[in-house]
Amino acid sequence: MTDSKLWGGRFAKSTDKLVEDFHSSISFDQILYKYDIEGSIAHATMLGRQGIISADEAAQLVQALQEILADIEAGHVEFEVGAEDIHMNIEKILTERVGDVGKKLHTARSRNDQVALDIRLYLMAEIEAVQQLLLKMERVLLDLAARHKASVMAGYTHLQKAQPITFGHHMLAYFQMFRRDYERLTDCKKRTNLLPLGSCALATTTFPIDRRFVANELGFDGICENSLDGVSDRDFIVEFINAAALIMVHLSRLSEEIVLWSSNEFGYITLDDGYSTGSSIMPQKKNPDVAELVRGKSGRVFGHLLGTLTMLKGLPLAYNKDMQEDKEALFDTVDTVKKSLLVFAPMLDTMRVNKTKIHDRAKGGFINATDAADYLAARKVPFREAHSIIGQLVKYAEDKGVGLEDLTLPEFQQFSAVFSEDVYDYIKIEKCVAARNIPGGPALPAVEAAIESGEIWLAAQK
Ligand code: ARG
Repeated sequence: MTDSKLWGGRFAKSTDKLVEDFHSSISFDQILYKYDIEGSIAHATMLGRQGIISADEAAQLVQALQEILADIEAGHVEFEVGAEDIHMNIEKILTERVGDVGKKLHTARSRNDQVALDIRLYLMAEIEAVQQLLLKMERVLLDLAARHKASVMAGYTHLQKAQPITFGHHMLAYFQMFRRDYERLTDCKKRTNLLPLGSCALATTTFPIDRRFVANELGFDGICENSLDGVSDRDFIVEFINAAALIMVHLSRLSEEIVLWSSNEFGYITLDDGYSTGSSIMPQKKNPDVAELVRGKSGRVFGHLLGTLTMLKGLPLAYNKDMQEDKEALFDTVDTVKKSLLVFAPMLDTMRVNKTKIHDRAKGGFINATDAADYLAARKVPFREAHSIIGQLVKYAEDKGVGLEDLTLPEFQQFSAVFSEDVYDYIKIEKCVAARNIPGGPALPAVEAAIESGEIWLAAQK
């Protein structure tokens, strides 16, 4: 044996320093320490119960592991690059502290199932943390929707004014997106919450281990049912990053709207000073940097998704070192999505919605043209024909530089004799919103019902 490597027995030469640095993961996988120790405690306990090691040895291991955990948490432990990863660092410290019994911990275990276990435990905790942050976003969105359930604004398609809605209705669209994101994570938890430990290197073990006991100790719903799959599957990570990528897509779309809405051209919202930043040269500037940065950060999460898929796609079963690359992608995804959600919710909560501005801006752009067509269709003009008549009216009004509501009744009647005085009331923008009292629609009762069902859903998640 050449140096102090835990696996050094068959080696005649030390690892080249370049290789040691290259393959060491301790710089990033040390964040798994808590889960590694938690897993080792459950494993040692099981080894003792099964008589694979003595009860006394198991008790010594458990106690020493608990002490190491406390020492790491107190900042008293330094990890070594030479000990490669978090698993071997902790085993090394354990053996230094308790001597030969420390060397028994790895009986009936491999780093392959150990690392799979650690990531699953880590991910279960982080999924729940992300879900809590999503619920905070949902709270803010529902509150905004309630405050602005009657704040009329333009709805857009192709970023051209389309039909009037309310700001509340617009916020509820995002509420639905984040609700699906939350539910996707709940679904991902089901497949993450299985114990890989006991798969060992790839083919389980000759020792009479009790996987179900360990699963129970660690709070898993069950065990990975094939040992090769248990150590080589990382699809739960892909699923998580995919769910995170969609969260970032939704945040990024809302960011884009916030950037637009806070511009002088729109002026729909005013961000709180605490959630905007200035320019080093232009004194007047107040920039929506938070929204821009979240929009920008979505790119790294999409990159991690593709990176992880690509890393996995050509790997023969079972474990391959390529899989160590899952970690930085996963950790950075968790970090990015958590930080983004954390800052986004209070930014939304503190922004001011300029109700008068959004209402005034909703008026132009022939936003009531569909309603004018509906007016005719409701009076038995076939919709296609009505569409064409209003198209001609829009052209006529546009040439005059006025809106439909500014035309005189004789002008309306030049295009169709069906028009009468009540058309003016029919195409008022408040009326256009109120007339869409359909489930999922923008009219006040429909929005109130959507808020109510959102509240019920939110209350059920706690
Ligand atoms: N650091 C490794 C990883 O993250 C742990 C598993 C190593 N197993 C092995 N046989 N080299 O994947």
